[in-house]
Amino acid sequence: MPFRISWASDTIAVSGEVSDTQAIRQFCEALNQTIVAGRSNQIRLDFADCEDLTQAIMLPLLPQIVRCREEYGTQFVLVLPDQRATLFHSSLHGLFANTNWAHFVQPEEFEAVDEAADRVPVRRFTSHSEMSDAINDLLRFLLRRRDIGRGTLQAIEWSINEITENVLSHAESPVGGFVQATEYASSIEFVVADAGIGIPESLRIDDDERALLEAVSEGGTRDRSSNAGNGLYGSYRIATVSGGEFEVHSQNATLRSDLRIAEPLTKGEALPFPGTSVRCSVGRFDGQLLEEALRFNGTPHEISSDYVERTFETDTGDLLYSIGTHALGDLGSRRGGARVRQELRNLLRGQGQVVVDFSDVRIISSSFADEVFGRLFVELGPRAFMSRIVLRNVDATIDGLIDRAIVQRTRLSEQR
Ligand SMILES: Nc1ncnc2c1ncn2[C@@H]1O[C@H](COP(=O)(O)OP(=O)(O)OP(=O)(O)O)[C@@H](O)[C@H]1O
Ligand SMILES: [Mg+2]
Repeated sequence: MPFRISWASDTIAVSGEVSDTQAIRQFCEALNQTIVAGRSNQIRLDFADCEDLTQAIMLPLLPQIVRCREEYGTQFVLVLPDQRATLFHSSLHGLFANTNWAHFVQPEEFEAVDEAADRVPVRRFTSHSEMSDAINDLLRFLLRRRDIGRGTLQAIEWSINEITENVLSHAESPVGGFVQATEYASSIEFVVADAGIGIPESLRIDDDERALLEAVSEGGTRDRSSNAGNGLYGSYRIATVSGGEFEVHSQNATLRSDLRIAEPLTKGEALPFPGTSVRCSVGRFDGQLLEEALRFNGTPHEISSDYVERTFETDTGDLLYSIGTHALGDLGSRRGGARVRQELRNLLRGQGQVVVDFSDVRIISSSFADEVFGRLFVELGPRAFMSRIVLRNVDATIDGLIDRAIVQRTRLSEQR
């Protein structure tokens, strides 16, 4: 069923499959109307008949909702999608909880979650330290989740840094910024949104469509004296060079990957999005993305440091993976083991060896030992495993567990 957003007295109802980004603007209009006309300061957000919803739509709505609560004292009551819909969309009901959407709509009722299986739940940031915490969590998630080359991880880090930084330096958003990332089958997508002044006002350009084009073009900045203005342009390049998508909404304009303004709106019909929302998806996971995509003024852009270097590199340039620091919550389970193995595999790309340090770790489960070391031993082969995974400070019990895991896993693979 196509989506529909309707409002009456103190209720906004969202129904159907909500995939058209026009829903973002219609929802903002509904919010505006109910608040202006509102007799009570309570609004019911009714998603009972909602059949599908993605972060591309929902994330831009959150800063608007939070702004109403914090600036006007509006209380929201969330009606979750009907459980029956789970026949077709197994996760829509649960999605509201494990994305933190429910939490940001009605925090009194829904607690925030830190982690979810295939996504990084929404994070709000109002300072640089909250911003970098959110970015680090996101990069950690990606490294532990799928095969990803360092250049792609660097490109994502660069772009998400630029887009979130823009919120803090240009948006003047009373609620800060919101960011969410999701891993899809062939892409990684993140959305950053705020409830600030919007790009046209920031650039002091009256024509909203022209403002967005200017912001996304190379060197398009409000600070004409500097050599800057490449945050959005570089992010657009990363998205399009990798086969992904790029989309910006601000005030009365929407700009998409092909740098065409989305379906021109007749004046008067245009519904503003009061803030800025940027969606960027990256579709390639090899190592070369950063150097191919980021060229400014014809010159390749050099980054000064990246997540892998900050998190794992020692002074001598080796990669040091401390189990006690990086894998503390994973030691008891096979799932945790799978995350750590993925992380080690990514670190081994383009790197001779990784030192795995067990200092202060006294016990690991045998399923963790199997999932990480048993499987890596079989994947890499004995000689490569011994030379590329350097185990350090392993206590006797753990040593025994790892040995046993390797022996059993090798036997199992030989039987196949
Ligand atoms: N979230 C936002 N809210 C308001 N204005 C924004 C936002 N993001 C970008 N802009 C506007 O778009 C312009 C271009 O952004 P972009 O990141 O490309 O360059 P910059 O931030 O000016 O410089 P650089 O990122 O290279 O330091 C900004 O100067 C600003 O005016
Ligand atoms: Mg910028």
